Amino acid sequence: MRQKLLELLAKRGTLITPDAADYLLRQTNPVDHLTHVIDGMQQVPLVITLQHIMEAERLAMDAAARLRVTGRPMALAPRTELTDGSRFLGPAMKTVARTAEPATNYEDDLVVLRDITGRSTCEGTLDDFSKYFLNRFKVLSGMLRQRKDLPSLVDIAKAKRLTREVSVIGMVADARVTKNGHKMVVLEDETDKISVLFPASTPLAQAPVVTDQVIGVVGTVNSKGLFVATNFIEPDIPVNHHFPRSADNVSIAFLSDTHVGSKSFLDERWRKFQTWISDGDEVARSIKYVVVGGDLVDGIGVYPRQDEDLAIDDIYAQYEAFAELISALPTRLRIVMIPGNHDAVRPAEPQPALTEGVRKLFPSNVLCVGNPCLLRIHGVRILAYHGRSMDDLVSAIPSLSYARPLDAMREMLRMRHLAPIYGGRTPIAPEAQDLLVIDEVPDIFLTGHVHGVGVSEYRGVTLINSSAWQSQTSYQKMRNLEPVPARVPIVNLSTGTVAVKEF
Ligand SMILES: [Fe+2]
Ligand SMILES: [Fe+2]
Repeated sequence: MRQKLLELLAKRGTLITPDAADYLLRQTNPVDHLTHVIDGMQQVPLVITLQHIMEAERLAMDAAARLRVTGRPMALAPRTELTDGSRFLGPAMKTVARTAEPATNYEDDLVVLRDITGRSTCEGTLDDFSKYFLNRFKVLSGMLRQRKDLPSLVDIAKAKRLTREVSVIGMVADARVTKNGHKMVVLEDETDKISVLFPASTPLAQAPVVTDQVIGVVGTVNSKGLFVATNFIEPDIPVNHHFPRSADNVSIAFLSDTHVGSKSFLDERWRKFQTWISDGDEVARSIKYVVVGGDLVDGIGVYPRQDEDLAIDDIYAQYEAFAELISALPTRLRIVMIPGNHDAVRPAEPQPALTEGVRKLFPSNVLCVGNPCLLRIHGVRILAYHGRSMDDLVSAIPSLSYARPLDAMREMLRMRHLAPIYGGRTPIAPEAQDLLVIDEVPDIFLTGHVHGVGVSEYRGVTLINSSAWQSQTSYQKMRNLEPVPARVPIVNLSTGTVAVKEF
């Protein structure tokens, strides 16, 4: 167990004092305990002390008073990933039901705060790209400048002339591991670029650095002009974020990846969901909003030999079939839908809402918005992002995996960017303003794409990965992706409680 703890510490780029290690080893699950302690930290220190752990436990107990999924303190729950929603149905559903009133008692209160739809200006010129990255750098470096842990902050050109310890902020132009195990990162700002060494002998060598990310480093330039790092800082989100409990007792159901048109669409399980939300219990009646996280239909030609997996091989007919399912849901619901990489809009992110021709298929209680989209529903800010960038993050950061999408979501919040890597599998449109930057901290952060299900919390932000309505396709089987379909996370906005219902 001690070895496993040390491996986790190395992965997270930190060390631990002996008394803190002894304390953790006395816990039921030391590795999970430590994971939650680290996740709750404003900044991961070079050495974790017993005091850090005590403080993290105090914060977790506070958070637990608000967010109860398992009946245990959420931030210290032994599993961060929820792969089988049914286990949480008991206590969680009761928590929501106890306070539920019919959602029809409340007026609609939904505002779109940030969405590319109708605002795209880019043409993809070289000039567009340089403006785009400049905007990204400006916004994210502005966030880093607010941090207190970047002492003697200077620009890169000046850092190269100094021999004392300084901090610099830059965009990562390149990140690689040398044959000796050092991490070598090229950082760039508006003045110059510099090679930064994250020594193999320190936990920094495991820091999750990816290209085009904006980071801060503390260190000293050596005689060879190499910046030797002693600390690595991400913009991150504040630790003191609190869920703004709405005065209105309404709930939101989160769906994603319906993939209508696929032979593997789970029709029967969708019908069960439809029946429950139409004539179900108090929880069902408390749901006033449904947010759908993209991949609404299966699309055409999205992956090799997809035609063999299609039940409907016309994109318009796929949307017609999906619209029929949506029209059969109760009209009291307001349904918000973002597109995903299978939908018929431009693949480059940020993606605009479905086109007018498709939108008109849906009833008037449906609102089509872009991907990503920041919404405010009864005072609660929801960032909905399909999650395509997980493909790139999972291949760039060894500690991430498709089976644990919530870890990738936490990393996006730390980076304050939904899709930092340019030139990977996530196409990015060079808009004048980088709408993939997580400018405002959301209260709920939703993704889909990986067809798993997960609910957790990071620094007061509720994280939801919202399942799928498609069983495993042959393509997913080939790529070893095991879906967890037909689960619906439900958040009550007046209490912040989360429940997951399986159909
Ligand atoms: Fe999908
Ligand atoms: Fe997807």
